[in-house]
Amino acid sequence: MILSASHLRKTFNTPEPVEILSDISLDICAGESIAITGKSGVGKTTLLHILGTLEPFDSGQLLIAGKSFHPKTAPAYRNSQMGFIFQAFNLLEDFTALENVLMPARIARKPYDKKKGLELLSLVGLETRGHFPAKLLSGGERQRVAIARALCNDPNILFADEPSGSLDQQNQELVTNLLFDLVRSSKKTLILVTHDKEIAARCDRSLCLSNGKLTSSI
Ligand SMILES: Nc1ncnc2c1ncn2[C@@H]1O[C@H](COP(=O)(O)OP(=O)(O)OP(=O)(O)O)[C@@H](O)[C@H]1O
Ligand SMILES: [Mg+2]
Repeated sequence: MILSASHLRKTFNTPEPVEILSDISLDICAGESIAITGKSGVGKTTLLHILGTLEPFDSGQLLIAGKSFHPKTAPAYRNSQMGFIFQAFNLLEDFTALENVLMPARIARKPYDKKKGLELLSLVGLETRGHFPAKLLSGGERQRVAIARALCNDPNILFADEPSGSLDQQNQELVTNLLFDLVRSSKKTLILVTHDKEIAARCDRSLCLSNGKLTSSI
């Protein structure tokens, strides 16, 4: 099991206590692809961030590759084993597309590898945009840079939060095919939040989040 969550709970206390996740249990095998669907505001992004050790939870247990979350070791593990495609992209605005894509490698203190960065950009059809500052890119281009960045350290687990939400149909197909090809050919684990039923149906399993709990959806 690459990821095992049991009875996770999460309440946000600002401005007043609201329980977002009340009882989340989920086992994910290595190489599996899981879709998480649910209405806006139910807590999909919160859950993805908790499973990716970016956000703390209040109670329950989270095991990743058999180990429990530890604040000291989590960042290094996250950087080398996990890739995140954030819903809001989270690009560094004043850095170029290429610098953004190579940021996970820079954090891991790997040598600067322009060729690799351009290859990743080319996977998402942006090989000519490497020198553009992120703030000058269009919404869809930003999303594709975020996808290329998530692949930089060749992670085992990919967390994708509505990864094609800002894309036209052609690019939507390009990036969803890219993600599913990676899962199949490189046996990566994919945890994908999506509103798109067709994309959810391409995953091995589809789960729906509502009232703080996950249920299997058909
Ligand atoms: N840091 C925070 N402090 C307080 N409330 C928060 C915080 N982060 C998220 N929330 C609230 O938790 C709820 C769930 O948010 P979340 O972003 O996880 O929803 P979502 O299912 O991803 O929605 P969407 O489909 O619109 O992206 C929302 O009501 C949001 O306002
Ligand atoms: Mg969200």
